[in-house]
Amino acid sequence: MNATVPDIVLEAKQLTKRYGALVACDQVSLSLRSGEIHALIGPNGAGKSTLIHLLSGSVAADSGRLSLKGHDVTRSGLHQRVAAGLSRSYQITNIFKQLTVFENLLLAVQASSGSSFSFWHPRSQDKALSEAAERLAQDCAISPESWRAAAGTLPHGEQRKLEFALALASKPSVLLLDEPMAGMGPDETLKLTELIASMRGRTTMLLVEHDMQAVFRLADRLSVLVYGRIIATGTPEEIRNHAGVREAYLGEEHA
Ligand SMILES: Nc1ncnc2c1ncn2[C@@H]1O[C@H](COP(=O)(O)OP(=O)(O)OP(=O)(O)O)[C@@H](O)[C@H]1O
Ligand SMILES: [Mg+2]
Repeated sequence: MNATVPDIVLEAKQLTKRYGALVACDQVSLSLRSGEIHALIGPNGAGKSTLIHLLSGSVAADSGRLSLKGHDVTRSGLHQRVAAGLSRSYQITNIFKQLTVFENLLLAVQASSGSSFSFWHPRSQDKALSEAAERLAQDCAISPESWRAAAGTLPHGEQRKLEFALALASKPSVLLLDEPMAGMGPDETLKLTELIASMRGRTTMLLVEHDMQAVFRLADRLSVLVYGRIIATGTPEEIRNHAGVREAYLGEEHA
């Protein structure tokens, strides 16, 4: 491979989604480079969540194409895309609140290892799974004191961390994050920002986020979506200085 050409993991070409007369995503083309944290920003209602749905496969595009690691996945459903390495963090809803934190991690690791639920299985498999769950907890700074607590009793920020860990369990090639900091206080936001930063390079991430401090701290590149269209893609520096972006979204205060 030519070293000067970045490795593209996910490539969307002219994805369009209409809701009646409204074009929520209007011929959106976007490429994610291997290992990058790519932020997707834009005003409320711009179509960011819709684009995440189109990429994850939870909503079908009206037109356009999507390829993952060079394979066309345009017609693949959500589960096929997950199996192919495209994962999405589903807010708190993918946490089993009655189960402990560790049980949640264990289930996620087990699901992604392809091993099935069964009463009879070798003890070595148990050990490998719990070690993988422990590693995941450590990687995501989930403190051992909370491992035995019911997941639903954790503070909001800790549940978000757990949700992030669950999404990482399948070692996805691409992780889609839609407003992971939503509803968090400044301390929790900072912790999750550090955690996402610590995963840089391990997986490619597309991050939708309104917290501009977190965005500019994390993003290697940004794309700006306004009225369903990408008006700019570039480095944080390029986006900060982009006249059209400042006018449409960032405003002078972020410049
Ligand atoms: N299922 C739906 N049916 C009809 N209209 C929808 C649907 N989902 C989204 N929309 C509309 O599409 C547009 C884009 O919505 P979307 O949720 O993608 O925006 P967003 O950029 O994620 O906004 P926010 O920053 O507020 O989360 C909005 O006008 C929204 O009302
Ligand atoms: Mg949204």
